Amino acid sequence: MTTKDTMNGILVEHVSHQYNGPPVLQDMSLQVGSREILTLLGPSGCGKTTMLRLLAGLEELQEGRITVDGRVLADGVINVPPEKRSVSLLFQDFALFPHLTVINNVIFGLKDWPSSDRRARALHVLDQVGMTAFADVYPHQLSGGQQQRVALARARGPRPRIMLMDEPFSNLDTSLRRQVRDIVLWVLQNSVSATVMVTHDSEEAMFMSDRIAVVNEGRIVQMGTPEELYKNPVNSFVLGMFGEVNRMEGRVLAGHIETPMGLVCAPNLPDGAPAEVLVRAEGVRIDPNSAVHGQVVTSRMLGQATLLHLDLEGSNGDPLHVHARVRDNDRTRVNQEVGLSLDDQHVFVFPLPDVK
Ligand SMILES: Nc1ncnc2c1ncn2[C@@H]1O[C@H](COP(=O)(O)OP(=O)(O)OP(=O)(O)O)[C@@H](O)[C@H]1O
Ligand SMILES: [Mg+2]
Repeated sequence: MTTKDTMNGILVEHVSHQYNGPPVLQDMSLQVGSREILTLLGPSGCGKTTMLRLLAGLEELQEGRITVDGRVLADGVINVPPEKRSVSLLFQDFALFPHLTVINNVIFGLKDWPSSDRRARALHVLDQVGMTAFADVYPHQLSGGQQQRVALARARGPRPRIMLMDEPFSNLDTSLRRQVRDIVLWVLQNSVSATVMVTHDSEEAMFMSDRIAVVNEGRIVQMGTPEELYKNPVNSFVLGMFGEVNRMEGRVLAGHIETPMGLVCAPNLPDGAPAEVLVRAEGVRIDPNSAVHGQVVTSRMLGQATLLHLDLEGSNGDPLHVHARVRDNDRTRVNQEVGLSLDDQHVFVFPLPDVK
């Protein structure tokens, strides 16, 4: 990475934060290049919005440092106010002014621009989001998706160096969400902002992001490209953020662990080590040739896949309940006995603390 690359974009160093109780962010560091989209993905309450508020300057920094394009915005002494940070926010509530027309909502965001340029710039960004035809209507005359597109145009108007988006699609229904997501991604890819998005929807994070930071209890657990995180999660928490998993426990014997679903490789763990075996629902296959059998408890067609709930005989004679996501052509009937095998690329083994 060249010095120029390091200078451009957002640099967060060792940021910790607390309100009136326990720490909410703990020693968080991250870098987002200009033109890059980084997503904070994590469960409710893990500190995602707090990080965005600190970046925006809406919350005063307590510990660490935030730099943008080489300029310190906050370090405990310096605290650049929000309006001087070249930052735009896109939140789930569209926050358009109801008494202003669409174009005047966008022009409102251009206060620092020469007045002669504002209208042309507003029309340009409205055009980018396909909303020019609605320039003179009021927000209440628009659908939710259209309002969010206007909110995006307003956020983009001043060409901010930083774009912050907090669950920007969560108020939209599924089909609208896809549409607006496409537009937002296209607009961001054609801008020079460094973007930080927040979501707890992993599919959304994978679709939108160049990189994802998985956050738990105020700490970054793993950061990488969507593919890196999906293929090589560092622990069960990260794995669990990217879809449904089945969990089993066992002990390593000669590089393997015996599970109710068959023998699983554990090449890097010593003999006798306790471990958890995690299998994504899409890693359980119907396999008529397998010696492992399960009984179908429910079968639900979900469009591209069918979700099966299966009961297997567990290790101690206890039943093991497993979820499998199979292709529709693997259609099965309730109560049917089926052979099952595992798809190795969806099987993960992590060591457990020994509680002998
Ligand atoms: N202004 C505040 N005063 C006190 N505590 C707060 C304040 N804002 C947030 N918190 C607490 O800080 C923690 C992190 O909150 P934050 O809003 O950053 O979480 P989040 O990851 O955005 O969650 P969600 O996905 O539910 O939006 C929570 O425990 C929350 O209750
Ligand atoms: Mg939040």
